[in-house]
Amino acid sequence: MIDEKKLEELKRQALTQIKEARDEKSLETARVKYLGRKGELTQILKSIAKLPPELKPLIGRLANQLKRELEEAFKEAQAELKKRREEHLPGVDLTLPGRPYPLGRLHPITQVMQEICEIFLRMGFSIASGPEVELDYYNFEALNIPEDHPARDMQATFYFAPKVLLRTHTSPIQIRTMESEKPPLRIIAPGKVYRCDSDVTHTPMFHQVEGLMVDEDVSFADLKGILTIFAQETFGSETKVRFRPSYFPFTEPSVEMDISCVICGGEGCRVCGQTGWLEILGAGMVHPNVFRAVGYDPQKWVGFAFGLGVERITMLKFGIDDIRLFYENHLRFLEQF
Ligand code: PHE
Repeated sequence: MIDEKKLEELKRQALTQIKEARDEKSLETARVKYLGRKGELTQILKSIAKLPPELKPLIGRLANQLKRELEEAFKEAQAELKKRREEHLPGVDLTLPGRPYPLGRLHPITQVMQEICEIFLRMGFSIASGPEVELDYYNFEALNIPEDHPARDMQATFYFAPKVLLRTHTSPIQIRTMESEKPPLRIIAPGKVYRCDSDVTHTPMFHQVEGLMVDEDVSFADLKGILTIFAQETFGSETKVRFRPSYFPFTEPSVEMDISCVICGGEGCRVCGQTGWLEILGAGMVHPNVFRAVGYDPQKWVGFAFGLGVERITMLKFGIDDIRLFYENHLRFLEQF
């Protein structure tokens, strides 16, 4: 039976629930619970007709009054929630789906540089590094390139002061590592280098990876073996290599290594200039003067060194024909890697 006490109890419950609703969803749940088509108060209102005649007027009046009160309370609570939301984030519709942010990725140069380093790490080399702003001594002098040596013209240099410059190659890291560590050693040194040069195949800043191995019985055969493994891991096991005599002041003998053309496989095409070969790095046996500069005994120690251009290798790997694409930051280019 419905009586005044029951209505009182219902009112207390409903008002508490309204007060505790922290968002629109729980407020709506509460509204349905009491005022919905099957809500508790709605049921009571429907059953008034069946009450004994002497109770009908009182209960009817109270129940209808409660209905108006609850409706009012819901309206107020709704307005309050809305106000609070707008105060926090005016004009923001929290029900809109979020904006998707695409995941970033590593720059192709970084990817290839890491890949190259990993190949050498697996062969027991460890990573070394050095400063990009370098002294003349480390970039040239200690590498057997004295002041008036014509080889300085091979590399157009950016200078800060007469003896301070942006390193033109990663070879100064060889010197710095040998100065601070005792042989034997095996290092790989990735980094940025700078030359005053700019066209389809040259940017003023580019990346090199330097390698150096020094021990008592390192031979030219080790140089050939290790660089052949590198070429085949980078460009595929079918890749052929050849070594051509070359010149670097800090190595003797010096070579350049070619790989069979990645485009035509050696048949001859536009990319390899119909030769079937592509030059990918410079290398050689460490010059005794370089060992002397760092205080290693050239009678006791032998070593080989090599340096390669990461942009060139990346271009050959992915068939990219303009080096400037790497530094224009077009997402449609970068997203392909
Ligand atoms: N430093 C040379 C260059 O930048 C490459 C090189 C490194 C050659 C080590 C031989 C040995 O051209």
